[in-house]
Amino acid sequence: MKDLLLAIDQGTTSTRSILHGPDLTPLASAQRPLAQHFPAPGWVEHEPEEIWAATLATMRDALAQAGVGPQALAGIGITNQRETTLLWDRRSGRAVHRAIVWQDRRTAAHCARLAAEGAAPLIAERSGLLPDPYFSATKLAWLLDNVGGARAAAERGDLAFGTVDSFLLWRLTGGRVHATDATNAARTMLFDIRRGCWDGDLLKLFGIPAALLPEVRDNAAEFGMTEPGLLGAAVPVRGMAGDQHAAMLGQACFAPGMVKSTYGTGCFLLLNTGDTAVPSKNRLLTTLAWQLDGRRTYALEGAIFIAGAAVQWLRDGLGIIKDAAESGALAARADPAQPVYFVPAFTGLGAPHWDAEARGAILGLTRNTGPAEICRAALEAVAFQTRDLVEAMQADWGAAGTTVLREAVPMTTLRVDGGMTASDYAMQALADLLGAPVDRPEVQETTALGAAYLAGLQAGLLPPPGPAVAHWRLDRRFHPAMPRAEADRRHAGWQDAVRRVLTR
Ligand code: G3P
Repeated sequence: MKDLLLAIDQGTTSTRSILHGPDLTPLASAQRPLAQHFPAPGWVEHEPEEIWAATLATMRDALAQAGVGPQALAGIGITNQRETTLLWDRRSGRAVHRAIVWQDRRTAAHCARLAAEGAAPLIAERSGLLPDPYFSATKLAWLLDNVGGARAAAERGDLAFGTVDSFLLWRLTGGRVHATDATNAARTMLFDIRRGCWDGDLLKLFGIPAALLPEVRDNAAEFGMTEPGLLGAAVPVRGMAGDQHAAMLGQACFAPGMVKSTYGTGCFLLLNTGDTAVPSKNRLLTTLAWQLDGRRTYALEGAIFIAGAAVQWLRDGLGIIKDAAESGALAARADPAQPVYFVPAFTGLGAPHWDAEARGAILGLTRNTGPAEICRAALEAVAFQTRDLVEAMQADWGAAGTTVLREAVPMTTLRVDGGMTASDYAMQALADLLGAPVDRPEVQETTALGAAYLAGLQAGLLPPPGPAVAHWRLDRRFHPAMPRAEADRRHAGWQDAVRRVLTR
């Protein structure tokens, strides 16, 4: 039976392949860590060959673990860290430089110049984004300007640009297909999210030759057949989406008003806004949730750069915990009378502040402050940042006043996933400080789930987004237990702490 679905989840710190059954039950999983390269302060790179080797190895491992061959697969779904930028030679398939990772800040001056020159309204109107080094466009411009001969080769049509999805598809299909999907395209800052195509004005603004660009397809589509030699037989690639968009599908946030938050290294909160691209007045991003059958569903997104990474820092930097799993127990021992705030702006602040120069701080220290109070402050920082994003979303959403949004269900619960959600303490703190119920699903690998779903949808095994899709099941709902006035008082303290680290 050809009814299994293999999801590739190529993330920032690891590469995973997860095999799913036809009902999206995870059957086998393989994972490889990914080395991080920091060639200069604020620069972050990945080795493309390592990404490719890990992808292939984990695909083979997952199939071997389940004891099945490629003939059992109905399709492959790819999901990936977004914005990370690759440029490769079309003839050799080799990248001309390491991948520049989404976290990389090397193009901050370029972005500041664009903002000073008044480019922000055009960028926002077309791409839904704002001038920040986070997105692909300035990273690609940097590669063209800094890799010897790259610009001339690009003009001749010898090079190909892609985000990780596109690079993997190229390799999987033996260089026969240069394509991406609409959600990944939406994060490049070169794509018109309303018309659904590459935008000539943005290409001109960033100096990007059109010959570099991949074809943009729906999230569920026939992306091409894999080279038979890779897995032992050719398998169709049938789904593709940026990881946060795949997580929206994995979390079954199908109706306008539904919202999910993924807590990995950073935190990405996405609100389904239906067929309306809602412009943000609160420095959130307008993006695609997904594109199916040429129809686009939109989302508002809040991206914060440090969530689980703050807990990692407690472990690896400060050494006050040995394992991330200890953080809840340590935080629970904190003195309730000590208001300590931790602003984890290690790499600047993302939404809604977008201050690339801000740096972290711990405030409210006294002689009684110890590891427990600092640990609690780190976990609470994730909750406070989530609340900032939710409030910005509610303001944008309420202001939109479109028919779809007026008819939508109100945003009442938050669906969460990602590594940090394993901590009951952190999830209770989130519900308390947010003042809203927090729903943790049984399957927390929602990104891979979304990619498998897309492949299954394209294969005709699964229904389109809607009530008939039954893959989401509640593990636990965390109800807010903190009095509202106390949550508000503590949030005001947090906002005061943030004001002290902002540089503008
Ligand atoms: O926008 C960046 C995001 O897609 C990265 O996600 O899970 O790889 O940290 P993750």
